[in-house]
Amino acid sequence: MVNKTIKIALDGPSGSGKSTLAKYLAKHYGFVYIDTGALYRTIGLFVSEKGIASDDVDAILAVLPEIHIEMRLEQGGGAVYLGGRRIGDEIRTPLCSKYASDVSKIPEVRAFLLETQRSIARENNVIMDGRDIGTVILPDAQVKLFMVASPEARAKRRFEELKARGIETSLEEVLADMKWRDNNDSSRKVAPAIPAEDAVMFDNSDYSIDEMVDAAVKIIDGILNKG
Ligand code: DC
Repeated sequence: MVNKTIKIALDGPSGSGKSTLAKYLAKHYGFVYIDTGALYRTIGLFVSEKGIASDDVDAILAVLPEIHIEMRLEQGGGAVYLGGRRIGDEIRTPLCSKYASDVSKIPEVRAFLLETQRSIARENNVIMDGRDIGTVILPDAQVKLFMVASPEARAKRRFEELKARGIETSLEEVLADMKWRDNNDSSRKVAPAIPAEDAVMFDNSDYSIDEMVDAAVKIIDGILNKG
């Protein structure tokens, strides 16, 4: 018997509201929430802790075999473990954002993380948030949403999120960092952050959280009930 799981791919740039929406949707549907950016951030953390520059591709490739990264299911979501150490908010700093964006350009790093992401979706109904979920990781996802929001709306959200986590920064710094990462993530050669051909574009610039969740549920129910 083929046990086909339901997969919802949620892609889009940083600060587009993906993780907030994904968490609400995971609760609503009772699916597992997977934050794939956390995997790239964890590789970035490892590399930075080794004292390697984020653009030193040769040195990064040399340490890649030393990295033991796992995603374990905890409380309805995927928790990242690096060599048995549970990873938390230490991967949310601006430095880790930069490292994550740079290491994610390396094809071997993307290949290294591919099976970790796919295997979870084979075993569980998932909402997976990232940049290339609809295009590369889960091309057969039943639902693909690509989130868009204005840079100002996204920077404001990300700034509030960082403040709530106790990470000190300014709105200007967040906006500049976001523009740099948008360009870095969407111009890279491998798996650029672009929508899949069959993705639904979802602009949430002017939505409150409740409105965003309601609108997404309507789209998702419409697609799942059709199939
Ligand atoms: O979603 P995030 O901002 O935590 O992701 C951090 C970086 O990781 C982002 O700049 C690009 C990269 N990333 C990626 O290349 N592919 C993914 N599926 C998720 C994240």
